[in-house]
Amino acid sequence: MEVGKRRKLPLCTKNSLQLFQIYQWMTQIQKNNSELVTQHFLGKTFENRTMYYLQISQPSNKPKKIIWMDCGIHAREWISPAFCQWFVKEILQNYKSDPKISRFLQNLDLYVLPVLNIDGYIYSWEEDRLWRKNRFPYENGTCYGTDLNRNFNSSWGSVGVSFNCSSDVFCGSGPESEPETRAVAQFIKSKKSDILCYLTIHSYGQLILTPYGSTTTPPSNNEELMQVAKEAAAALTGKYGTSYRVGSTALILYSNSGSSRDWVHTIGIPLSYTFELRDTGTHGFILPANQIQPTCEETMLAVTTIIDYVDKKYFPDGAVVLTSSSLGLSLCLSIVLTWTVS
Ligand code: ARG
Ligand code: ZN
Repeated sequence: MEVGKRRKLPLCTKNSLQLFQIYQWMTQIQKNNSELVTQHFLGKTFENRTMYYLQISQPSNKPKKIIWMDCGIHAREWISPAFCQWFVKEILQNYKSDPKISRFLQNLDLYVLPVLNIDGYIYSWEEDRLWRKNRFPYENGTCYGTDLNRNFNSSWGSVGVSFNCSSDVFCGSGPESEPETRAVAQFIKSKKSDILCYLTIHSYGQLILTPYGSTTTPPSNNEELMQVAKEAAAALTGKYGTSYRVGSTALILYSNSGSSRDWVHTIGIPLSYTFELRDTGTHGFILPANQIQPTCEETMLAVTTIIDYVDKKYFPDGAVVLTSSSLGLSLCLSIVLTWTVS
């Protein structure tokens, strides 16, 4: 290896393999479910990797709304990307048989970003299991990484951050200074009138967090936010008894600014939540493998509870099924038409 040059890692090292498998999985899931799933370009990471999101969308000729979910904004929270993949798999496996899923898919498109912080995720597999941030170099490459969940444009730099780039909560050189943040923020801005709900998946703590992190003043729709989160937590607990706490980030976790959850809410997307998955600290970020599946199963119940709520709130008349009145109307119409033509 040449002195002073960073060696480009071959594709098959342990960390790249992990990502390679997620890319492969995305390609495969899209091929096998081409009527429902498409893969789209979202942006590029600092190390020039491509960020893709999956869109699960049932063909329809009426306007639909969007649920956004991202995973893996923090590199070391490995259960998070696992959940995004589980979520997609479960939706595809069950949408025909599960009445709840088939109902909401008639009205809502699901946009899923399985790994937001790809560079950091790979770094956590290859070099440092507890890496949190992205891999953007600062100060002539003497320190690396911005906490992407402190880099969004909401009260940026005000609380729960550091301006020292060696810190785990370094907020970057300005709001959206990082390419990964910009990619997500630009996309969400471009679709904001259609996005009804934003979910961002983290670990650990067993919490469903509502806005805000930067102030203890509750948002105007706090009652609804809390009510829905409590319902979601109850559904989750029903599976394996795992207990969750629900509340605003500043009140039940810690104060932070520049989070994606806060930013999304301030641009007008009403339902915005952070999930902190298992556990409460016994294993922390290093969740044992035998907890992956139960964690995904219980989280699925919470997430589908929220989506179901959104669906019923914004589409109270349900899916485009033939109701007796629409049937009656079309019957009348066809009689009139037949009569006019003949
Ligand atoms: N995912 C969390 C974050 O965004 C880490 C939470 C872990 N710490 C804790 N005390 N539960 O910062
Ligand atoms: Zn996190």
